[in-house]
Amino acid sequence: MNILLTGSAGFIGFHTAKALLERGDTVIGFDNFNEYYDPTLKAKRNEILEQHKNFSLIRGDIAVKTELKKAFDLIENGDMVCHLAAQAGVRHSIDNPEIFLRDNILGFGNVLELCKTKKVKGLIYASSSSVYGDSKEFPLHEELNTDYQVSLYGTTKKTNELQAHVEHALFGLHSTGLRFFTVYGPWGRPDMALFLFANWIMNNQPLQIFGQGQMQRDFTYVDDIVAGIIASLDKNYPYEIFNLGAGHTEELMSYVSALEKALGKEGKKDFLPMQQGDVVKTSADISRAQKMLGFSPKTRISEGVPQFVQWYKEYYNF
Ligand SMILES: NC(=O)c1ccc[n+]([C@@H]2O[C@H](COP(=O)([O-])OP(=O)(O)OC[C@H]3O[C@@H](n4cnc5c(N)ncnc54)[C@H](O)[C@@H]3O)[C@@H](O)[C@H]2O)c1
Repeated sequence: MNILLTGSAGFIGFHTAKALLERGDTVIGFDNFNEYYDPTLKAKRNEILEQHKNFSLIRGDIAVKTELKKAFDLIENGDMVCHLAAQAGVRHSIDNPEIFLRDNILGFGNVLELCKTKKVKGLIYASSSSVYGDSKEFPLHEELNTDYQVSLYGTTKKTNELQAHVEHALFGLHSTGLRFFTVYGPWGRPDMALFLFANWIMNNQPLQIFGQGQMQRDFTYVDDIVAGIIASLDKNYPYEIFNLGAGHTEELMSYVSALEKALGKEGKKDFLPMQQGDVVKTSADISRAQKMLGFSPKTRISEGVPQFVQWYKEYYNF
């Protein structure tokens, strides 16, 4: 398969591109290497991808259609697009709304337009568990009402699902939106909890634990997410939305304990109130993905957190 993959230098994009290349697909990566977090990490991920003969990178911005078109020019009618580039971060969207509107809504609109013009076979794109807002009905399943957003980030992801539906209804574009639940693993995102906690512990700084440590998350190991993305590419359903989560909810403090155990070091903790836009709990109903994608997440935090720590220690020479 030939796949245009946006966000290839990002955490999930890198792992997805690597897995696709390893099974023999050709990947055209697209990324602007923005400075939301350390671009060196993005460059290092990209270096690994560049070692594969079937990988090529176009550097550019999804919100600038002429730049994105250069990547679409390299694929043929009938190829697939996997769109993972976006501005992520619930809290970041409170102080920086413009970048979310630009990258996530305008950028996604450009992806859809070019998918239509190019007559691609299908589009797989990243949505998020954030679309469920602060739902109190658990487990979260795809049929729940998602009209009550509590962050602009979640709103942009919900909007993407609507944008994709319009393209499907009017022009028959095949698309699958994947609602990822808190993804973690090696080469992860430095703005996310596991990475932040690891940095604080190793630098002898107190851990900022929001929600007084009462939060619960469906933490999902990156290899399980990648398996769900690849199954979606292979199935290429006409129009679907799937939850991709571990299907198992953990206490935030169990996540912290697993990290401390793997690092062999405990951290001092500052327990703080909930942050604006954050939700107390996520818990994914993954039965639809199990049934339609054969999705079967395998990695619990007791195994996945040590995998992250092994990478983290090697990467930072601890
Ligand atoms: N990591 C998670 O837990 C999680 C959860 C839910 C949804 N998601 C979604 O999954 C996708 C991938 O997330 P991630 O964790 O790998 O994030 P990431 O920030 O590591 O990756 C996103 C990549 O997209 C690139 N990018 C951003 N804006 C761009 C633009 N305008 N033009 C070109 N490239 C651009 C960035 O440089 C980055 O390399 C995102 O859409 C994110 O919203 C992630």
